Amino acid sequence: MYKPIKIADGIYSVGCRDWDIRDFHGYSTYEGTTYNAFLVLGEKNILIDTVKEKFGDELLSNISKIIDPKEIDIVISNHTEMDHSGALPKAMHVIGKDKPLYCSKMGAKNLKSHFKNDFNFKAVGSGDTLKVGNRTFSFLETKMLHWPDSMFTYLVEDAILFSSDAFGQHFAGDMFFDDEIGDEIIPHARKYYANILLHFSGRVQDLIKDVTKMNLKIDMICPDHGIIWRDNPSKIIQLYDKWSKQEPAKKAVVIFDSMWESTTKMARAITSGIESEDVKVRLMNTRKWHRSDIMTEILDAGAIAVGSPTLNNGIFPVIADVMTYVKGLKPQNKIAAAFGSYGWSGEAVKILNQEFAAMKFDIIDEGVKVQYVPEEEDLSKCFDLGVKLAKALKEKLS
Ligand code: FEO
Repeated sequence: MYKPIKIADGIYSVGCRDWDIRDFHGYSTYEGTTYNAFLVLGEKNILIDTVKEKFGDELLSNISKIIDPKEIDIVISNHTEMDHSGALPKAMHVIGKDKPLYCSKMGAKNLKSHFKNDFNFKAVGSGDTLKVGNRTFSFLETKMLHWPDSMFTYLVEDAILFSSDAFGQHFAGDMFFDDEIGDEIIPHARKYYANILLHFSGRVQDLIKDVTKMNLKIDMICPDHGIIWRDNPSKIIQLYDKWSKQEPAKKAVVIFDSMWESTTKMARAITSGIESEDVKVRLMNTRKWHRSDIMTEILDAGAIAVGSPTLNNGIFPVIADVMTYVKGLKPQNKIAAAFGSYGWSGEAVKILNQEFAAMKFDIIDEGVKVQYVPEEEDLSKCFDLGVKLAKALKEKLS
């Protein structure tokens, strides 16, 4: 269970911690996650977002520790995805089905589509405000960050941004604020960006420009997952600016799978070649690393080498999984090379190059393929491929 946390005068975090979740639609959540919801008390009491369906009772119990849920006058839904709206029907049933439900126009459409329910929708757009007593809620649509219905709610007088998924992290710990956990939270935020928002980096850049133009004072950012940024909210905005620019670092990732360790030997030789050029490198075996951790390392890597044996005229299934996942997230500004061992047909390298081409990666070599077990000469070619990849990256960065 979770007790409500006071985050400012009359404002509480009333969501739930999901300690057990380890797979969030294909993203590994080794430390669980939270579904944050917020209660703002005043002349009218306002609930911002709900939680996953199975935590509906817990949400209502948390609210009940502060006020009777029936005393909530208005609900705001920043995002339709069911980790934030699953408990909405149950919550509205208790709060009162006719109470106003503020959301974006797409939010109204998507909530109707999910729940076949006609709530008392009040559709709002960017710049619309809701004045309640001495508090003003200002809405900012953030379409495709990361759903068409996504929006932010900004509480003007308290300078608090309720940012939905943006700036979140999948982390369920015993801390609630950035000043309690410090920089330990940054790898979680980075993984979240790489796996949820990277695809929409152009929109993130536009949003940062828009918010900068608006000169919005932000004292606190309350995302719907993980800790609240109250000590230094500008830090996570600066990190989003950096990550969304997708500027390559002097770093490579070597990703591989192997049947009989031949492709492993090739991967190690390529890694040695990259290191010999003083380029940082991560060697990631797809049997040992989850696709979402591989994606996190790809975020800032300037170079990628992918190796797969040929299996039944194709690439290995786990490599296909990773390539499909990476392609969907649209990483940019990468240089790439493929490698792999084979028995008799040897299509894997060609298929990997086609995947690189589809992702608009700069393919710096046709790749290295080796029949059965690599000899010294083959491993030397792999080492040279690593050197070539590293040199190409350094030249690109110079
Ligand atoms: Fe946390 Fe898009 O839901």
